[in-house]
Amino acid sequence: MPGRHATSPNRHRCDEAAVPCSGTRWRRQIPKPVRIIQLSDIHFGAEDPAAVNAAADYVTRTAFDLLLVTGDITQLGHHGEFALAGAWLATLPGPKLATPGNHDTPWFGFLERITAPFQRYERAIGPAAQGEFMSPVLAAWACNSARGWQVRLNWSKGEVGRRQTENAIRHLRTASSEAARVLICHHPLVELPGAPMTSRVRGGRQAAAQIAGAGVDLVVTGHLHVPFVQPLPFADGLTYAVGAGTLSLRERGAPPSFNVIEIDGDNLCVTAMAWKDQRLEPDQIWRAPLRARAAGAIGRRR
Ligand SMILES: [Fe+2]
Repeated sequence: MPGRHATSPNRHRCDEAAVPCSGTRWRRQIPKPVRIIQLSDIHFGAEDPAAVNAAADYVTRTAFDLLLVTGDITQLGHHGEFALAGAWLATLPGPKLATPGNHDTPWFGFLERITAPFQRYERAIGPAAQGEFMSPVLAAWACNSARGWQVRLNWSKGEVGRRQTENAIRHLRTASSEAARVLICHHPLVELPGAPMTSRVRGGRQAAAQIAGAGVDLVVTGHLHVPFVQPLPFADGLTYAVGAGTLSLRERGAPPSFNVIEIDGDNLCVTAMAWKDQRLEPDQIWRAPLRARAAGAIGRRR
């Protein structure tokens, strides 16, 4: 899976371009929404096979601008789990952008978890530390919030360093003024009220405040195993935390699901597609306003 500049030229929009229609007249092409499909927490080794197959079928049949995989692609970080995950991802169309989760380090293998925690992930999936996608309508930056170990008992919680945040903002500043800007990582940067678990991201609130202040539109994460959309309580309140559910058997009060994220002008629509009663169906839908594109052009306001 490419981790950097996984662009697909034939997916780039030609907004407002005049195109021929059937006959001799010409019409103006209507810009389409930007569509992102977000898969998360598949946990190969504890995956829900029917839900995984349904998600793959949906991804294969649906046009999109970017496929995101927001971590915990394996259950225990076993070689066999990564082999399954890598082979499965290779069957899916792109472009793709992925980031590891806390389950993507070797659960058994303490020394490797300390010295080379993402070696297996990088062999099977792609670069772990960071990744990027850039098109005229969408800019995305992947930031690794997982750690092989930490100086605290629960190393599965997240961390985002100051330099990671600065890199994300620096990258997203280079996007066109019309592009939607998206940061992805595994752990939600701030706690979600009523969530089934915490993420306790070191540096998370500071990162979220800086990201929101820089005009980034979405912070897209996994980890909780339940889908959600929540405005971040910083800056103008128009940066949204978007979380996806799981495609594993590790449900936490919500059925297996993945997200379809659509950005149509200044409008955000997130649909959680759930696997329920042996069918895939829209389960929850969130709609929210985004900041105006021109006004949201980070780097031009500063
Ligand atoms: Fe997970």
